Amino acid sequence: MVRQISLSRQEKSLLKLARKAARKAYAPYSSFKVGAALRTTSGHIYSGCNVEDVSFPLGTCAERNAIAAAVREEGAKMKVAEIAIAAFKQSKHASVAPCGGCRQAIYEFGSMTKVIFLDGRRNVRKMLIGELLPEAFRF
Ligand code: THU
Repeated sequence: MVRQISLSRQEKSLLKLARKAARKAYAPYSSFKVGAALRTTSGHIYSGCNVEDVSFPLGTCAERNAIAAAVREEGAKMKVAEIAIAAFKQSKHASVAPCGGCRQAIYEFGSMTKVIFLDGRRNVRKMLIGELLPEAFRF
């Protein structure tokens, strides 16, 4: 069971888009399909999924692919207001907090970004990127 805390309509729809993206993932090696959907501060929405490779380190995470799509459209000034992440393992909802590398990548495009994800207890969580990655690396 997935317990949904009070999410706004906008947050719910972002999570739905993350699930839609996850269904498209290319994850033949892990069978862990991840999707991310983000809303930029200009109000547009972009999504991405994980794309694995037989040469494992070449695989890319859903969050970073969504960020790449957003930068591609909005350019270097793009900022992420919120990002939702969803995952499926054997077609079942799976918990997924963003990996460490993706936390840094999200932080790069907004130190106040809200992150929505399903935690290990199967609760939908909303956290600020600064809570997920305290003392993020910066120059
Ligand atoms: N993965 C993501 O897409 N995002 C994360 O934050 C965690 C991990 C992907 C990478 C790999 O394709 C699969 O999940 C299993 O690690």
